[in-house]
Amino acid sequence: MGRSELTGELKDELSGVWKAKVLTLFPEMFPGPMGASLAGQALENGLWSLETVDIRAFARDKHRTVDDTPTGGGAGMVMRPDVVDAAITAARENTEKDQGVKLPLIYLTPKGKPLTQGRVRTLAEGPGALLLCGRYEGIDQRVLDKHQPEEISIGDFVLSGGEIAAMVLLDAAVRLLPGVIGSEASLEEESFEAGLLEYPQFTRPRDWDGKEVPEVLLSGHHENIRAWRRAQAEQITRQRRPDLWQDFEKSQSQADRKRIES
Ligand code: ADE
Repeated sequence: MGRSELTGELKDELSGVWKAKVLTLFPEMFPGPMGASLAGQALENGLWSLETVDIRAFARDKHRTVDDTPTGGGAGMVMRPDVVDAAITAARENTEKDQGVKLPLIYLTPKGKPLTQGRVRTLAEGPGALLLCGRYEGIDQRVLDKHQPEEISIGDFVLSGGEIAAMVLLDAAVRLLPGVIGSEASLEEESFEAGLLEYPQFTRPRDWDGKEVPEVLLSGHHENIRAWRRAQAEQITRQRRPDLWQDFEKSQSQADRKRIES
């Protein structure tokens, strides 16, 4: 059965699943680490789906050329607009026609907006993502202007391509899908969810290598434990991430003002 001949039933089934579609010159890199552990199990159980689109399949010449030298000179190679355009157009048309969903198009690039937990959460709540991975010196600007992808960076460093960045984004999103992680509560308490880094964790044995776990955690006093963890989270955030701490303080004073006004 061809892609365009999906039955109605299968169509419905597919449209309900969080869908990742990755445009890449290296489809063999996938699922890679996304096929293991929690994400891999969830993939096997049909909680999300992963499809790669080989950009090279859209090259039209006999050598299957996908890149060329930068116009104006300079090092490296740039991905050709005609080839990338054909790949994006085909991927978009396929998902819209076969599965009735419009996925947000994301281009992984160090020039993009930094990825945040907030953006990951919104993506996980949506139908999925169409992820465009670049290689070499990047992609011809004209095809980016045409398709207007959201440009996302995973940090201020340069990877050799967008594939690992795409996997980072997928890992962060897939673990938030319903049913992927057993306990919803563990998601609520982790780093960034309240705008703070996470407090330190301990487990048994109570005395290890001459070091005891903090007494308060053994007290069974839930309110004291909560307050201790909160104070630790605040201290770690203040020390390590003054940028996050500033945002956190701002949001706290806004919340205080709202409380006073109401
Ligand atoms: N491609 C190369 N480097 C990248 C980065 N830091 N983030 C996202 N995509 C990239």
